[in-house]
Amino acid sequence: MNSLEYLKELLEPYEPQVPLTELADQLNRFFHAREAAVYDKQHPEIFDQLGPVWRQMLEVGLPKVESSESGGLKILDFGCGTGFEAKMLLDSDSERRVGELVCYDLSPEMVERCRQTLGEQEIPLRFLSDFDELMKEQTPFDVLVTNALLHHLPDPLGTIESLAPVLKQDAVWLAGHEPSSRFYKNDSCHEVFDDYQRQHKFDRMFSLARYIGALRRILNPDNDPAEGAARAAYEAGLVKKHLTRGVVYSLVDFHVPNSPEEAHAGRGLDFAEMANDSRGHWDLVWKTSYNFMGPVMEDDLSKRWQSKCRILKERFPDDGASFCAVWSRATAP
Ligand SMILES: C[S@@+](CC[C@H](N)C(=O)[O-])C[C@H]1O[C@@H](n2cnc3c(N)ncnc32)[C@H](O)[C@@H]1O
Repeated sequence: MNSLEYLKELLEPYEPQVPLTELADQLNRFFHAREAAVYDKQHPEIFDQLGPVWRQMLEVGLPKVESSESGGLKILDFGCGTGFEAKMLLDSDSERRVGELVCYDLSPEMVERCRQTLGEQEIPLRFLSDFDELMKEQTPFDVLVTNALLHHLPDPLGTIESLAPVLKQDAVWLAGHEPSSRFYKNDSCHEVFDDYQRQHKFDRMFSLARYIGALRRILNPDNDPAEGAARAAYEAGLVKKHLTRGVVYSLVDFHVPNSPEEAHAGRGLDFAEMANDSRGHWDLVWKTSYNFMGPVMEDDLSKRWQSKCRILKERFPDDGASFCAVWSRATAP
């Protein structure tokens, strides 16, 4: 069973009226339209944690520019969201390698936030939410960047392949922060996480944020990304029965494994499988793996648990719950 089959079974009771992949795309649109306003606050795992990893990835993957006369690199940020990786790129560009940046997202609300985040810059910036317009780009891109995008796409490598016409033959792709199924497939890794959860099972129950979230949903259900997306999908006739928030999350986070069972059922991404599946299209140049306490941020843990994470990282450097990778476009045989 893979992600597609797993989700087909999950959806059956809701009588979907469109193909699963179309439903996932539409839910992503509805969900992120609502999440745009609160995204930066609700994702500390990106804004508080990822800076050093991205700086390392840019160091490894961003091509050098021979001379300033070349005009610099033309970069596409695909799935830009509120602008995290675009800002990383611009803020760490001390050598002025970036010549032009185009930020695209399927959610116009996200694109608008990204525009506000980046503000005025010295280099030309453009913002798009129309895929067909992106495909009309005349000069191809040197670099593609994505962050926390692939796991939302029903066919991640297919979507990246659809960008081939607007990428240079020797383009590089910096793919940040995706969930790795390797974590849940590694017994030692997820057993430490299970232990942690057992010892902290009351934390969530007594968390104030949880009750505030529930109250907000009662007062304004349409503003909640998952509840709002469920309502929008029902009203648009995409399903005959109202989706639960849990099912919306499963579809929006199409490739996020939440347990060993899901990972073994084929849910989640794995850089080694991706390298195999994209053979002839993209070569894996570099990768790094982190988050050895699954979805719980290591910085928030006590020293005892942090030390367990360090030991796991030493023993299984590739099997953290998240990974970043640098790819280069494969040269034609
Ligand atoms: C988790 S957010 C990441 C945003 C940003 N890259 C970051 O790291 O903060 C995922 C983003 O992917 C966008 N997205 C989802 N499906 C997409 C698709 N098919 N094409 C382009 N963007 C998509 C969403 O609208 C959302 O902004």
